Amino acid sequence: MGTDLPILRRLKTSGRVNSYLVLTYLLLVLFGVGGLIVVVGYSLQWAIVEQAKRELSLRGMMLAQAAHEFREHRVRFTDSSFRSWLRTSAHDLSARIVVIDPSTGSAVSSDERPAADALPNPAVLTDAREGRIGVDIHWDQQFLERRLTAIVPFFGGGVQKVVLQGIVRVSVSMTPVQTEIRSTWVRLLGAGAAILMITIMVSLRLARWISTPLQALTLATEAVASGDLNQTVPSVGPEEVRRLAQSFNRMAERVKQLLDRQRAFTANAAHELRSPLTGLRLRLEVLQRHAQQEPHLIQTYLPQMDKEIAYLQRLVEHLLTLAGLDEGQTFPRIPIDLAPLCYEVAEAAELLAREASLLIKVEVPSHLPPVAANAEAMRMVVRNLLDNAIRNTPAGGVVTFQAQGDERTVTLAVADTGQGIAAEHLPRIFDRFYRVESGKTRSGRGAGLGLTLVKSLVETFGGQISVESQVGRGTRFTIALPLIVPEPQHSQSESHPGSSGGLLQLPLTAGGELLAHD
Ligand SMILES: Nc1ncnc2c1ncn2[C@@H]1O[C@H](COP(=O)(O)OP(=O)(O)O)[C@@H](O)[C@H]1O
Ligand SMILES: [Mg+2]
Repeated sequence: MGTDLPILRRLKTSGRVNSYLVLTYLLLVLFGVGGLIVVVGYSLQWAIVEQAKRELSLRGMMLAQAAHEFREHRVRFTDSSFRSWLRTSAHDLSARIVVIDPSTGSAVSSDERPAADALPNPAVLTDAREGRIGVDIHWDQQFLERRLTAIVPFFGGGVQKVVLQGIVRVSVSMTPVQTEIRSTWVRLLGAGAAILMITIMVSLRLARWISTPLQALTLATEAVASGDLNQTVPSVGPEEVRRLAQSFNRMAERVKQLLDRQRAFTANAAHELRSPLTGLRLRLEVLQRHAQQEPHLIQTYLPQMDKEIAYLQRLVEHLLTLAGLDEGQTFPRIPIDLAPLCYEVAEAAELLAREASLLIKVEVPSHLPPVAANAEAMRMVVRNLLDNAIRNTPAGGVVTFQAQGDERTVTLAVADTGQGIAAEHLPRIFDRFYRVESGKTRSGRGAGLGLTLVKSLVETFGGQISVESQVGRGTRFTIALPLIVPEPQHSQSESHPGSSGGLLQLPLTAGGELLAHD
């Protein structure tokens, strides 16, 4: 490989993978193509020389045949007719021809050079006597060049006796042959160089195709490691690298989303905590300064402060539960009958309903089939739904709380005759901190976390929540929780808690009793 500086520089700048790939390619091609060129070159060279030898032998034989005809017509080699034929033939063939008469040892030449110099050595003469044609290449002192020579004997005489009539020695310059050989080598080397250049270009491209996306990935990963999450890498290169890039992008996006969500969550939480705390603080200050002179302020402020504290309590409870769920905390699940729990929460809600001049209808059977859930969490779920219904229903309305079980699910439903939720808000009411701003909303505000929490909890227990609402008519939230079915004979259970659709399979306690809920 040459010391092509730009290439070396490119190899250096484009990283190790690149260099390894390019170098491997180059070495392979260099050895492969180089070897092939040497083999092909020498074969062609040999073939060219062989062809030249064959051609010259053929010419020699034709000349020998002609010389033989002359002899048969009693023309002597020294006769002018023979000499002129010799000259013409030599001119036509660009060759030097010498005809030797073995009987006298004399020779005639087609040119002015002394013919004696052209006499073949005794070994060749012996060959000729035996009828063999000799071809060889040697340095010619007279021409001062390499020449190709063919020595062809020709015979005469009768059937009984065959005598050597003469020997034709024809020689041509090797220059045309050498020129042809040289041009063949030049063509071959040119082709080799072209192949090498193409290989270098292709392998550089190929290497870059593979290593550039890897480098981009490395840089992006380093950036992410140092805290910059705004990283996407182009999905280019080979299939595997493309997949890696796509996974990386998805991962970076997901991490960014999670972090953004976390930040928003903290910011929202702080915001929600601040206003009730400020309210509390202001009222406390007023009381501290004026309670002695104006004791009626205590009557006014204390219930308000109580409400704020209740709100804060609920908010903190929601925040803690959500944070726990985010971290992957789970509620211990045991088989429970939800009916008593429903009654308990509904009873507490009745107080609120009465305050709001609402009728609350509880249509819950005394027992429900067991579901695998957590009593505390389910209480939070039901309380939130009832609380929402009461707060969003004007005085005189009805809140209906229904529960029923069939062979697959336990369904809880909270319906109200309240203001309803507009269709544009419906898809978002389960989002964190999402609230529908409405003037008609009854006293008390929420942080917009209740439904988020309800949905998360229900889903943790493998259930689903849905909502239907009509503005001005009312809203209905429905929760479906999968039943526990007694474990079948083969103990390997396929369905997992939380897997949607399938029935949940948890063992009941001994004697088929449900574990007690508190
Ligand atoms: N039964 C209902 N009727 C009308 N609107 C409701 C009802 N339940 C929830 N919403 C609306 O959905 C929004 C989100 O509810 P939620 O997540 O419980 O937050 P909040 O803390 O405000 O109660 C509420 O702001 C409320 O406007
Ligand atoms: Mg709520």
